[in-house]
Amino acid sequence: MSDNRRLRIAVQKSGRLSKDSIELLKAIGIKLNIRDRLLIAHSTNEDIDLLRVRDDDIPGLVMDGVVDMGFIGENELEEKMLERKAAGKIADYEVMRRLDYGGCRLSIAVPNEANYSGVQSLEGKRVATTYPFLLERYFKEQNVNAQAVMLTGSVEVAPRAGVAEGICDLVSTGATLEANGLVEKDVIFRSKAVLIKRTGEFSTEKQALIDRLVPRIDGVMQAKE
Ligand code: PRP
Ligand code: ZN
Ligand code: MG
Repeated sequence: MSDNRRLRIAVQKSGRLSKDSIELLKAIGIKLNIRDRLLIAHSTNEDIDLLRVRDDDIPGLVMDGVVDMGFIGENELEEKMLERKAAGKIADYEVMRRLDYGGCRLSIAVPNEANYSGVQSLEGKRVATTYPFLLERYFKEQNVNAQAVMLTGSVEVAPRAGVAEGICDLVSTGATLEANGLVEKDVIFRSKAVLIKRTGEFSTEKQALIDRLVPRIDGVMQAKE
């Protein structure tokens, strides 16, 4: 079981950040015995427990202090921060390090054949996204009255399905957009993976462990440069 004296770190169970996050932990000398079906992995050489969860849950777990640290994409972190603030919940955290993986952009895209001359073209239209708070913030900044339609997945099929006129989704290679007859128009957010920690005091032991680990992360990143 998980023990409160051990440092709890949340990582995405499966997805774009999982492999690199686990590799980074291993590269800084943390021995992990990960079994696919288990939510918790105990380190065998450090007082660390790894919680393997959906990336969407990581910001909240850190902000609620359920875990001490987490590896998360800035896109998901910023979206959850806005969502929690809107709901009147605590949304505090500290970024310890910006990492060198998980790069992607959150972009507005429209069908190839659409007439598009800037975000103003979306006035009165619907845009499907998994990131409604980031998208609405962007619309507000740009003074555009458009509607963010929340979809938890398969956002790229929304225009063909008649659900929306455009989409706002993560793009890395662009292959998904191309396969769906969509063209990227406005980048609204650029993201990388970050290591975050909860606010508040840590026990002397946990703080000492954190102070040992963070310089090793810097070392691994420098070695890759
Ligand atoms: C994201 C996004 C696109 C895809 C874009 O999905 O929603 O589907 O990546 O990548 P590309 O530009 O390289 O094609 P992700 O893999 O994160 O999974 P999800 O949509 O199930 O969350
Ligand atoms: Zn997710
Ligand atoms: Mg996707």
